[in-house]
Amino acid sequence: MSSTLNDPQTAIADIVKRIEPHLVEIRRDIHAHPELAFEEVRTAALVSRELERIGVKHETGIAKTGVVGLIEGGRPGPVLVIRADMDALPIHEQTGLPFASTIDGKMHACGHDIHTTTLLGVAEVLHALAPRLAGTVKLVFQPAEEAIGGMKEMLAEGVLDNPKVDFALGFHNHPNTPVGQFDFTRGPGLAAADRFDVTVHGISGHAAAPHGAVDPIVAAAHIITQLQSVVSREVNPLHPAVVTVGAIKGGEAANIIPDSVTFRGTVRTLHDAARDTAEAAIRRLCAGVEAGMRVRCEVSYHRGVPPLVNDDTVLDPTIAAVRRQLGEVVNEREPSMGAEDFALMSQRVPSFQLGIGSGTPGRDDRLHNSGYQPDEACIGLGVQALSRAAMDMLS
Ligand code: NI
Repeated sequence: MSSTLNDPQTAIADIVKRIEPHLVEIRRDIHAHPELAFEEVRTAALVSRELERIGVKHETGIAKTGVVGLIEGGRPGPVLVIRADMDALPIHEQTGLPFASTIDGKMHACGHDIHTTTLLGVAEVLHALAPRLAGTVKLVFQPAEEAIGGMKEMLAEGVLDNPKVDFALGFHNHPNTPVGQFDFTRGPGLAAADRFDVTVHGISGHAAAPHGAVDPIVAAAHIITQLQSVVSREVNPLHPAVVTVGAIKGGEAANIIPDSVTFRGTVRTLHDAARDTAEAAIRRLCAGVEAGMRVRCEVSYHRGVPPLVNDDTVLDPTIAAVRRQLGEVVNEREPSMGAEDFALMSQRVPSFQLGIGSGTPGRDDRLHNSGYQPDEACIGLGVQALSRAAMDMLS
């Protein structure tokens, strides 16, 4: 009668069927109480309480509000991380759902409530089936993905040590993939996200006497126009890149040339060569306008997260396992120029991020949208997919 005696597909499906209603309750509880980066106190307490109930040993307080659980298999073997992020976004929810956010201006609009719940489901399944595993599963509940700071801190606090991690599996809900389907990207799947800030210093003066001033507005306009040539003329056309200026500030009045103008933007790339080229070009174009237009430019270029690179040695067995568990439900898709800090883990150990379809039939949802309503069936399906991947990779 024990499901642990069944074949893996039935064993996993049986447990998921039993725990699914509870998982939906947990998801709605987390959804109603969203917490922003490094403030996931209530969420972390809920995760800890659930792991306690299941019987999974775990540590709390890692990278402030992170939780790490450990499931040891019946036999020795490699160590696999499965990672979920827990934080919400500063968005005012407009879904009108009965379990909508109870906190003004905060919402789980990226589905990290789904992720946290899914990993708890995986914990319950793999704990029950642990005697069959050859190896160890490390469950990483990470804070502060949206602020892109949580993974960095977890790595600094040694999340890949004790026991030493061999490979890692991440996942994200994708509303543009229908629920029941899964997706993957080979190689770089998400972009490196860098940020630049430029202050163009001129000399203020009367608008009617421009020759007595150095105009930073005209200079900034020239630089921003020239930045449009970075992607089109400098980066290898086979390497995707985006340079976007998202903010510009300068001046107050129609009759005054101001002292300075600031602008800032983001650079997204999938390849290191494109990243290096873009940074060098931005610095050079600023230097050129400095020389040509007498301004002085302060350029700060901050390298954020690297590209998330999917490793075939984790991707292939995961996709095969999902297909064995759920059928022909996995499709390849194009990379995205979005970014996420699981990329930092992918730099350290072979990693793969699985896309879990969360699109509700008849809706056209987007992540980070105030009306986002993922199809909750993606939780049980995600638990099945990830649990099977872990079982097959640790067999
Ligand atoms: Ni997200």
